[in-house]
Amino acid sequence: MTSREIRQKFLDHFAKRGHTIVPSAPMVVKDDPTLMFTNAGMNQFKDLFLGNRPAKDKRIADTQKCLRVSGKHNDLEEVGIDTYHHTMFEMLGNWSFGDYFKKEAIQWAWELLVDEYKIDKENIYVTYFGGDAADELEADEETRQLWLQYLPAERILPFSRKDNFWEMGDTGPCGPCTEIHVDVRTAEEKKAKPGRDLVNNDHPQVIEIWNNVFMQFERKADGSLHTLPAQHVDTGMGFERLCMVLQGKRSNYDTDVFQPLIQPVSKQCGRKYGATLNSQPGESRYRHACDRRSPARDLVRHCRWTIAEQHGRGLCDPSDPASCGAIRLQLPGLHRTFHACARGNAGERDGRSVPGTEEATWHHRERDVGGGEGFSAYAGAGHQAFGASPLGEPPRGTIPGDKAFELFDTFGFPIDLTQLMAREQGRDVDMKGFEAELQKQKERSRAATTVTTGDWVDLAKGETTFVGYDELSSPARILRYRKGERQGGDQFQIVLDRTPFYAEGGGQVGDQGWLINGDERVEVLDTKRENQLIVHFTKALPKDVNASFSAQVDASRRNLTARNHTATHLLHHVLRKQLGTHGNRRVHWSPRTACASTSVISPRSRPRSSRPSSAK
Ligand code: ALA
Repeated sequence: MTSREIRQKFLDHFAKRGHTIVPSAPMVVKDDPTLMFTNAGMNQFKDLFLGNRPAKDKRIADTQKCLRVSGKHNDLEEVGIDTYHHTMFEMLGNWSFGDYFKKEAIQWAWELLVDEYKIDKENIYVTYFGGDAADELEADEETRQLWLQYLPAERILPFSRKDNFWEMGDTGPCGPCTEIHVDVRTAEEKKAKPGRDLVNNDHPQVIEIWNNVFMQFERKADGSLHTLPAQHVDTGMGFERLCMVLQGKRSNYDTDVFQPLIQPVSKQCGRKYGATLNSQPGESRYRHACDRRSPARDLVRHCRWTIAEQHGRGLCDPSDPASCGAIRLQLPGLHRTFHACARGNAGERDGRSVPGTEEATWHHRERDVGGGEGFSAYAGAGHQAFGASPLGEPPRGTIPGDKAFELFDTFGFPIDLTQLMAREQGRDVDMKGFEAELQKQKERSRAATTVTTGDWVDLAKGETTFVGYDELSSPARILRYRKGERQGGDQFQIVLDRTPFYAEGGGQVGDQGWLINGDERVEVLDTKRENQLIVHFTKALPKDVNASFSAQVDASRRNLTARNHTATHLLHHVLRKQLGTHGNRRVHWSPRTACASTSVISPRSRPRSSRPSSAK
């Protein structure tokens, strides 16, 4: 089966079982301050798990582009070094929102793997949650019993909270999980050591492919667990790993997901990429090239996906990867931008099945192979600062902490990339010195940073009605509030049942105004979205949080903001007309430029997106 067929089979399997197939959410998360990048398929459904809004479809399935480079789920260290971790990957997922639960999730997972994908059941191991004393949770015996219908007891293994209790982040929805592992070693290897001894043991051929999470709890900021109003299913299967298993390979990078990217690059470099781990010096870089994401860490796949995504949102011009944050990696034997030479047929393969990549693929084909010099300048400067000439002898000795920090701070080299490059030259990085520099910088920037956010205090059930397109003042009650702490004082976040306040979005700053109750006027400093919530930021909490308020937008500020926002649209239109979309991109690419007029009104505001909105 090709990777496309594998993906499609998954979606068809769940469509047949009543699931609505939805598109992948963007990788750059919008409206959730707890996450920078989408790290799991469930992110876009967080609100549904928490009961903040009702689910329109009770059963959903999709393939989600995920990025695990920061926060709780971070696979940066493993990438390229081993054969089965990626920072950026596709996660195939099916969800139940208060509908089916453990029995169906397990049954349908089994049917897909064994009946449809024809994975030999002798190669399958599963794990379940073995309980946790600190959280006062018992072992998940129900899941073990369900698996006993399909597998013998010795292939159903209990593991601790670390492996079998899934949490999105430090707070949020969570629950016990059951993971499905596959042993793809040779018969000889299996005879020498049983697979059960290698489950969760970092063995590259005994790997987890699918996690089925039973969402039952919400982890609060104080660490306690609260039972969710309903029980849900959240699953995630590693697409690249599944392809490795089904295509009979020993490394994800040997599948048709990666080889069409790796082969043209290694051909250009005049080197043969071998399947064996680290068989050639620098080989891990070919794998990095096809995975990683960061301003200085490249990738073909990521460029293609991100460029398509950004382009779709009007944020960059795919014909110019520099505008999208792409950059080159120095590969052994290749002395020019590899991004261009790797564009080939792999893009087409992904492009037909991963929604949103078609546009970028097309532009890549149009692009002149030799034209990538501009976007490599930034990385080139970083490489020079690192001290390694691609042609010359690598220098020796420990890289000082302040130098590593400069690479990080000035050139956008993440520290682990510096460590990786150092390791390839047989060098160390002074991590203590680096940490000290980082700490100094953190202290410098702490003043403006929110330090903590407490849990929501719920006063009433319901959703917010937004009336701000027609009204600038409205009666309102508080649905929920929470306290945040900033350097320099407390801050409160308030959600109302009815609000005329426009939340920052589409390049327009959030409204300011007041919550008025008799003589009391609580100032609203800003309005932002968090998932589906419209959050009002205030310096103080009203004395009577259960009172009925008059929520009043600062009308003159809103009028000025709206005019400036309209003026920005007009400017975009004229630039597009006069210069083409290229001109448009120049404006969009710099949010400060695009929103300069709005920031005159609110110097505090730093809009995250300059995409035009339907906001009036
Ligand atoms: N949310 C679960 C995971 O990412 C399925 O593993």
